[in-house]
Amino acid sequence: MVFVLKRREVIAAGVLFCAILALVAGGCASSGKGTLSEDDLGIRKGSLFQEKSVVPAHGEYSKAEAGTSKTIERAFENSPPLIPHDLTGMLPIAETGNLCIGCHMPENAAGMGATPIPKSHLMDLGTGKDLKGKLDGKRFDCMQCHVPQVEAAVPVQNLFRGEFRNEQGRVRSNLEDVLNEGVTAD
Ligand code: HEC
Ligand code: HEC
Repeated sequence: MVFVLKRREVIAAGVLFCAILALVAGGCASSGKGTLSEDDLGIRKGSLFQEKSVVPAHGEYSKAEAGTSKTIERAFENSPPLIPHDLTGMLPIAETGNLCIGCHMPENAAGMGATPIPKSHLMDLGTGKDLKGKLDGKRFDCMQCHVPQVEAAVPVQNLFRGEFRNEQGRVRSNLEDVLNEGVTAD
């Protein structure tokens, strides 16, 4: 199909084009005063073209010894709890030694005032097999999922808010109870 534009339409299109051009040009010209330099563009306020002097902001880890620290509210329901206490002398976790277990296995936790390792870690989550109180090997390296926190000023505020279906979820997990929620077995 061939469009044949009438003269009036050509003039109208021309006028519109000029108007847009004027707007764009005007916009560019007026932005001259507030132009950002390349050092101001990024969040880190420094050159984005070299990394030499870039040091990520890093605060201090908790110095409160295990037994004297305050647990941190869970980020969301059944999230891995954050480590509130000092870890000096406890890392790295090795095949020959895992101090976390010494305080956190259910049989030791009560005496230590520590949160016991939950049932979800004492079973094979893939098959549902109960490991009868033994830690699943996949859970041995606690630091893969549980991390300590630092107090640091954040350049961009995180607006995420966790949802909890009940108040208990803020301080305890119950993954093994809700894992199959909404799933019907044949
Ligand atoms: C000397 C005993 C001890 C050792 C060793 C230990 N913890 Fe703890 N942990 C505690 C106690 C006690 C608490 C409760 C907070 C407190 O009283 O300081 C706790 C709290 C926690 C919490 C928070 C639990 C919650 O309910 O929010 C996590 C996660 C944790 N520890 C992980 C670890 C990991 C990982 C290791 C090994 C790197 C470890 N802990 C080593 C005693 C210990
Ligand atoms: C693969 C990831 C992963 C590893 C490895 C892991 N955890 Fe967890 N942990 C979780 C998650 C996710 C939760 C919360 C959901 C649940 O209970 O399973 C949790 C919950 C916990 C809780 C809170 C229990 C409660 O009742 O609120 C403790 C304590 C804990 N883990 C300790 C440990 C320790 C100690 C180790 C190492 C021996 C470890 N975890 C290894 C992911 C992990």
